[in-house]
Amino acid sequence: MTERKVLIAGNWKMHTTLAEARELAGAVVRSSTNLVGREVMIAPPFTALSAVAEVLGDSRVLLAAQNVCWAEKGAFTGEISPLMLKDLGCGMAIIGHSERRHVFGEDDALLNKRVLGAMEQNLSPVFCIGETLGQREGGQTMSVLEGQVRNGLAGVVVTDPGALVIAYEPVWAIGTGKTASVEQAQEAHAFVRTVLADLFEKNIATQIRILYGGSVNPDNVDVLMGQEDIDGALVGGAALKAESFDRIIHYR
Ligand code: PGA
Repeated sequence: MTERKVLIAGNWKMHTTLAEARELAGAVVRSSTNLVGREVMIAPPFTALSAVAEVLGDSRVLLAAQNVCWAEKGAFTGEISPLMLKDLGCGMAIIGHSERRHVFGEDDALLNKRVLGAMEQNLSPVFCIGETLGQREGGQTMSVLEGQVRNGLAGVVVTDPGALVIAYEPVWAIGTGKTASVEQAQEAHAFVRTVLADLFEKNIATQIRILYGGSVNPDNVDVLMGQEDIDGALVGGAALKAESFDRIIHYR
């Protein structure tokens, strides 16, 4: 039997002032109090991590950064190290979000450095992959996903399957209101799992969580979470509203 604990993650992107971040984090803590068997993670902007860490206190809500450098310290203007993030209470970091890939031009080789650097410091990556609309229409979805997984995770050694999370986010579904159909999502997740099984030992690969992301909302979360290989959600827009995130983490 595989046991993959559901992870519902909120990616706040470049939103929230300190006051807004504190308020939203407080609401997530209240929402999560009686949640059984599911993990909840939030990724505020860097500027709010410290304030949110205080609000989270010893609650069960996990704190993540939206990006991370590979080096412990040094001449990397504009970057934040895994050590710095751990210092303020982060246990996870989103790496390779499609906005990093497509707006800031981060490629698989750079992302691989981020993944390796984070894992070296025991910061768990939420490593994002996903095809563009053109790639899907050109029938390249699976080869793109395979390349992103193989290149992004090159050299990665996984001993604790809980310490690496993959997020499949079709680029065309992010912030557009378009969700992949459940069949498209399940198909992609099952495929990614076969690639993981080739990279890692089978019992490790079957336990690595694969989240779905891209316009997840209170209306589609139930059916998405009903799919065999969907182990959670990476939520953008709907994570910024306490009510909708509450509904999402309490999916049925
Ligand atoms: P969205 O964003 O839910 O607003 O589509 C998801 C993400 O970018 O992680």
